[in-house]
Amino acid sequence: TIRRLTALEILDSRGRPTVQATCELSDGTVGTASVPSGASTGTAEALELRDGDPRRYGGLGCRKAVAHIHQELHQALSGRPFETQQELDQAMVALDGTPNKARLGANALLAVSLAFARATAHHRGVPLYEQFATILAQTDGGQAPASFRLPRPTINLFSGGKHAGGQVPIQDVLVVPARARTMDEALSTTYAVYQAAADLCRRKYQMRALTADEGGLAPPFPHAQAMLEDAVAAIRAAGFVPGQEVALAIDVASTHFFQDGRYHLGEEPHDSLAQIQVVRQWVEAYPIVSVEDALAEDDWEHWPELRRQLGERVLTLGDDLLCTNPARIQRAIELGAANALLLKVNQIGTLSEAAQAFVLARRAGWQVTVSARSGETEDNWLADLAVGWGGDQIKVGSITQSERLAKYNRLLAIEVAAGFPLVAWPG
Ligand code: PGA
Ligand code: ZN
Repeated sequence: TIRRLTALEILDSRGRPTVQATCELSDGTVGTASVPSGASTGTAEALELRDGDPRRYGGLGCRKAVAHIHQELHQALSGRPFETQQELDQAMVALDGTPNKARLGANALLAVSLAFARATAHHRGVPLYEQFATILAQTDGGQAPASFRLPRPTINLFSGGKHAGGQVPIQDVLVVPARARTMDEALSTTYAVYQAAADLCRRKYQMRALTADEGGLAPPFPHAQAMLEDAVAAIRAAGFVPGQEVALAIDVASTHFFQDGRYHLGEEPHDSLAQIQVVRQWVEAYPIVSVEDALAEDDWEHWPELRRQLGERVLTLGDDLLCTNPARIQRAIELGAANALLLKVNQIGTLSEAAQAFVLARRAGWQVTVSARSGETEDNWLADLAVGWGGDQIKVGSITQSERLAKYNRLLAIEVAAGFPLVAWPG
């Protein structure tokens, strides 16, 4: 039973307001959790409630969302005996009453959802990943897994698009330490590649390593393909064989350069089929094993062709396309539009609905990459979520900046304390 809900407006890694909630149970156990915030958002995402007062944080304040937790959510939820996460989340969704959580705010609802999960883990005396596993099992109608594993990290090396100065349209080029046997080895491998890339930026672009929102290096690449060439050069310079020890993943984030039916990627805008060809050529020429949002969020018609052209050995990963939304994932499964889900809990706004999204993707035989947002906090629940749900990959950003490292460091701690194996590539 929830005794009290409280909340606080805190600041994320971009210095913008976000929501932290604390849930106190009737036995006095407490859980606190914070929610992240995206910049390259999909239009189908649940609504992040912002104050809209231009005199304060440019309208981005979260005092209304915080007030909803203190007042309406506290009044409606405290004293009620919630047996499961699902019961709590359903009660919040019903109370909000809108299809996209626009009244109370997905930021308010998710903060409470997560704080309740953490309080429940404390109440049970189990690590948070075990509580997440219980929530997934309740969603799935099954048992919590007997053994856990650590997700394989895909780690931001180069940034462009909305996370950098838009100097190049592609948003992320990520390192996939495909052969690493442990989280420790995955991170030390990535560090070597990142340092080699920083050196390369100094020599080639005559610049210090300026970094983007997720810590990726953001030199003035002349065009998108240069990001891939430089990434391969950095892998080699670090002493690894590209495509063997270290592969690449990309987040094209093409929704954000799609206008009037055309993709503004190169010198001349092109149509969807030409976009598929460009990405296919990259996959053939570079050691790319995962391609996120190569097409725009509503270019449904062409996604099945994209997946066919990339083949089943490459992840056709949907972020803006799917928005962690069970209805959109169901549609994509029926169309054969993707073979992997990028899971961001705040796109949908409660843990239980994100668990439904996860289960749907799993039943279709898809891979799942659990993802942070470009605006993050020092909270590390995402690491536990990836472990508890058995995510195949985790995408948290670069190996710089403490809001990113909070998640990696939690995975390192779980690895040492629990000895879980790192999942293979692909998972
Ligand atoms: P976002 O970016 O958090 O700004 O949406 C992450 C992504 O596109 O994967
Ligand atoms: Zn993305």
